[in-house]
Amino acid sequence: MRNKVIAGNWKMNKILAEANQFTDDVVKKVPSNDNVESIICAPFPFLTSLVEKTKGTKVKIGAQNMHYEEKGAFTGEVSPVMLKDLGVTHVVIGHSERREHFAETDETVNKKAHAAFKHGLTPIVCVGETLEQREANETMDHIEKQIRKGLEGLSDEQVASTIVAYEPIWAIGTGKTASSEDANEVCTHIRNVIKEATSEDTAEKVVIQYGGSVKPANIDELLTQSDIDGALVGGASLEAESFLALVEAGT
Ligand code: G3H
Repeated sequence: MRNKVIAGNWKMNKILAEANQFTDDVVKKVPSNDNVESIICAPFPFLTSLVEKTKGTKVKIGAQNMHYEEKGAFTGEVSPVMLKDLGVTHVVIGHSERREHFAETDETVNKKAHAAFKHGLTPIVCVGETLEQREANETMDHIEKQIRKGLEGLSDEQVASTIVAYEPIWAIGTGKTASSEDANEVCTHIRNVIKEATSEDTAEKVVIQYGGSVKPANIDELLTQSDIDGALVGGASLEAESFLALVEAGT
């Protein structure tokens, strides 16, 4: 039985005081159940403070990106070593906004996934199709390519600990959610691709999240699906009350 994992992705939102207040509020009320995990993926400048505030609690702190190199002449970048040193536990890799605006590719996603494991971070690897791809019936092939290339060369044990987030690009921030059946169909496909590439045992352990306009009003239905183990949430993760409601839904 896989745990449910609810991750908030704040994207480029909040200032430090707001991030701190949110985290104080969440830590006070987060459910203590062991079957649900909650992660806040915050902008880099807030990470130190949020790690401090969540020490000894059930809330984990993630980054939204990182470089795959440990150090060097990469102005403006942040390395996995730096994140690990701060106490960050998770890192979002290959979000569609990074792929679209910052030239992230399946190759860099793969390098980052390897780097995450090398430094003891859990990657949340994002995949998803555009509306054009969906309408052209290319969704399944596209997702398979992203999964195979993104996870290439990882050991079965590493694959089993990877969190995969299926985020149809047309559903992100648009208010349009994939129907829970459609979302599950793709998540099942992801698990089957992983099974072919590794083993049934490995594939059964992988946590697969859905992302794209998830909110307290629609999360219950999504979480009843056989292959949806949680959510990667943007807009509805920005208010503590809403984030807590999402985590509660996973209990
Ligand atoms: O990482 C989160 C996703 O991009 C979903 O964002 O919940 O605002 O649609 P959203």
